[in-house]
Amino acid sequence: MVENYRIRTPRIDKPVQRQSARQLIVTIDGPAGAGKSTVARQLAVRLGYLYLDTGALYRAVAWKVRSAGVDPEDGEAVARLLPALQVSMDQRDDGVHMAVNGRDVTDELRTPEISVMASQVSANPAVREWLLPVQRRAGEAGGVVAEGRDLGTRVFPSAEAKFFLDADVNTRAGRRQQDLAGAGRVAPLERTRQEIETRDQRDKSRAIAPLIPAADAEVIDSSTLTVEQVVDRMMGKIAAKL
Ligand code: DC
Repeated sequence: MVENYRIRTPRIDKPVQRQSARQLIVTIDGPAGAGKSTVARQLAVRLGYLYLDTGALYRAVAWKVRSAGVDPEDGEAVARLLPALQVSMDQRDDGVHMAVNGRDVTDELRTPEISVMASQVSANPAVREWLLPVQRRAGEAGGVVAEGRDLGTRVFPSAEAKFFLDADVNTRAGRRQQDLAGAGRVAPLERTRQEIETRDQRDKSRAIAPLIPAADAEVIDSSTLTVEQVVDRMMGKIAAKL
């Protein structure tokens, strides 16, 4: 059978510390703008682990839905696109590149429109089922920091270190606005806040794999913490398991 996905994410940097013999699965879940990506990347560098951004996979599906002109809320029409969908994720010197059916869509995945559509398609059970083995294949050997919404609850329920990163909504909106500004997009704060509130509400209330902390996850509120403080706190917990 020809695989309909390909993931090549070699370790993103040399480990700062000597790599331990134990290759853990570390999961970071949480709402939009809590700082998961920044923290997960830095943690992966410190540990010499893979960094797995599962939101990018949902965004790639959303991109396909958009380019096919399909309504993201039409569950059956979205499901019909999946057999012909090919997603690949490649780590390169300038970051992770995402391709959909051979076309590099990396620069098109971070728009507010794709954020909303990714959240919409992520409530579709067929999409979640399709992406489950993709994510597991990428991380099951361990030595991975995986971030998303259901990594600790569903994708890697037996991960050795689980975190749920949260922050108050105004802080998260401010961070998202800065991310967008970094990509050359101007977004009013109030609109950004409303967008992430709507998206979180949808991600939390969906019937399948909703956004909730795993029972054994450490919940960290990053509202008043720097990235380094969050990473240090996570390293403290992980170090005990290495
Ligand atoms: O992390 P992100 O903002 O790139 O994710 C985009 C959307 O994808 C998010 O609103 C919900 C969905 N998602 C999900 O349902 N499960 C994941 N593990 C990751 C993302």
